Amino acid sequence: MCGIVGYVGKRDLIPVLVGGLRKLEYRGYDSAGVAFLKDDRLNVVKCKGRLTNLEEKLGGVSVEGSIGIGHTRWATHGEPSDINAHPQTNAVGDLAVVHNGIIENFRQLKSWLQAKGIRFVSETDTEVIAHLVNYYYEGDLRSAVLKAVKMLEGSYAIGVICLNEPDRIIGAKKDSPLIIGLGKGENILASDFPALLEYTKEVYILEDNEVAEITENSIEVFDTLGNRVEKEVFKVDWNLDQAEKGGWEHFMIKEIHEQPVAMHDTLMARLHDDRIDLSEINLNEEIIRSITGIKIVACGSAYHAGVLGKYVIENIGRIPVDVDIASEFRYRMPSPILSENELFIVISQSGETADTIAALREAHKKGAKVIAITNVKGSTVSREADFTMHTQAGIEVAVATSKGYLTQVLCLYMIAAEIGRIRKTITEEEYSAFIDNLKRIPDCLREILKEKGQIQQLAASRFSDVHEFFIGRGMDYALMMEGSLKLKELSYIHSETYAAGELKHGPIALIEDNTLVMVLATQEALIDKVVSNIREVKARGAFVVAMTMNRYAEKFEHDSDLIIRLPDIDDMFAPILAAVPYQLYGYYTAVNKGCDVDKPRNLAKSVTVE
Ligand code: F6R
Repeated sequence: MCGIVGYVGKRDLIPVLVGGLRKLEYRGYDSAGVAFLKDDRLNVVKCKGRLTNLEEKLGGVSVEGSIGIGHTRWATHGEPSDINAHPQTNAVGDLAVVHNGIIENFRQLKSWLQAKGIRFVSETDTEVIAHLVNYYYEGDLRSAVLKAVKMLEGSYAIGVICLNEPDRIIGAKKDSPLIIGLGKGENILASDFPALLEYTKEVYILEDNEVAEITENSIEVFDTLGNRVEKEVFKVDWNLDQAEKGGWEHFMIKEIHEQPVAMHDTLMARLHDDRIDLSEINLNEEIIRSITGIKIVACGSAYHAGVLGKYVIENIGRIPVDVDIASEFRYRMPSPILSENELFIVISQSGETADTIAALREAHKKGAKVIAITNVKGSTVSREADFTMHTQAGIEVAVATSKGYLTQVLCLYMIAAEIGRIRKTITEEEYSAFIDNLKRIPDCLREILKEKGQIQQLAASRFSDVHEFFIGRGMDYALMMEGSLKLKELSYIHSETYAAGELKHGPIALIEDNTLVMVLATQEALIDKVVSNIREVKARGAFVVAMTMNRYAEKFEHDSDLIIRLPDIDDMFAPILAAVPYQLYGYYTAVNKGCDVDKPRNLAKSVTVE
């Protein structure tokens, strides 16, 4: 959470910092600020609220040929306010720091500094860093930062400037991402690629405990002992227009519509002669034959992708799959259990989720080889995993995921197919049919998107709901976890996902007249069971919206208030299609309620704190 940017070069740095922060707003957006050198002073402008407030406060100032740092915040220590916004400074105000992460020992450090007479003005942990660097400063900012970061426990990516050294920015990181864009006569520090794309696609990716000294013509990186580290240039393959709305009202709806292409690209990247090639994750015949189980660990929607993957892999590959939430897995007492010959998979769109990274490291400690499914090349997950399968979703800007999630699901389907083929739990004919179905998905998604009017109407009629239920059985239940999350995070309507057969064990008490129950029923073998569950909620007054394929629709006509029809596809693949109407439903409900769809309250896209 939190986005940081730093610029050194000849341009007017205000548009570079503010433009960069706009691209990083997905990381947090409760306050923003910049610090820059101008007129022989260190100037700090910051305020609570969105970037537009900051722009207003900056009042069109221009700052050419100087240095500056900027920050967009997701509050961890202290409420969103002007004072708690970053940058934070030392007492005399000639040194400024922006920070992403959490300093866990900040109370001890604060007391230590206070005992030396230093007065704090904010409630942030970041202010400790500013005072610490100042404390160690003896005319060399880099060595002061090096000494200060050695005192820090927790996670940080920081950018530091000071008046005495007006030609350089110091950056440092541990457990939070930080990259440096390589320009000509200018260099840019940032939390993530989109902030740099307008200026360069060549970057250095800082590793933990590295400290960088950045001037307009040089970038030097050092380890904790102060030794120079040689960095390799990483080339970003994303385009700037992927990070723009391109005529759409919101990134969310743009990204929902990008799914046919994202799915096509993700599939085609590893489909050769109608065979799935998983050599990138080293899933060769020997490994697939030797594994006895699979553990998938992730957070949020990526976890939901894992749960759906479990159903598919167990069905096709007949291997037990255990799916765990990363924040739970990492703290399993006394330590997580990883069995020998268990394949370990982490899933993360951003590749920077703190708990997922910690789970990956935990698995490494136990000697496991880690496979990652991630969307961001060069991310921490992608760099630290032993093998990585990159989803081809392109940049995802909206805070709530859509194409990120669906492409993760697709990767798991591909893994399932390969396991099934190699372990001979499916026949060659079934494997070919599986591939054919995967190839059909982009067109089916296009068809669904064309019919979005029905979902729009439903959303328009239900946006005043207080709570809703999302139920299904088997794979449909897994998909409903994601459907329900989309509604709650985008529209703030409380929604519960339940396995349809579980409802009567308690939650059915909440069903009353007109309670909306969304039902997904795409698995022929389970339809009669689901219809019984529909009857149970109908008998208590529920308004039932059933989603199924055209060919099963009539089975729901009698008991449902509305039927949403999916294109006919093999049952196994229908949950993939079903994701889209629920994304649209969450989106249109939120639009009807006037919610900030791309940046839902209290959320941040990249959850880099635990
Ligand atoms: C929900 C959403 C989150 C993320 C979760 C994990 O729409 O986007 O639940 O899925 O924070 O993020 P990644 O996949 O980046 O690890």
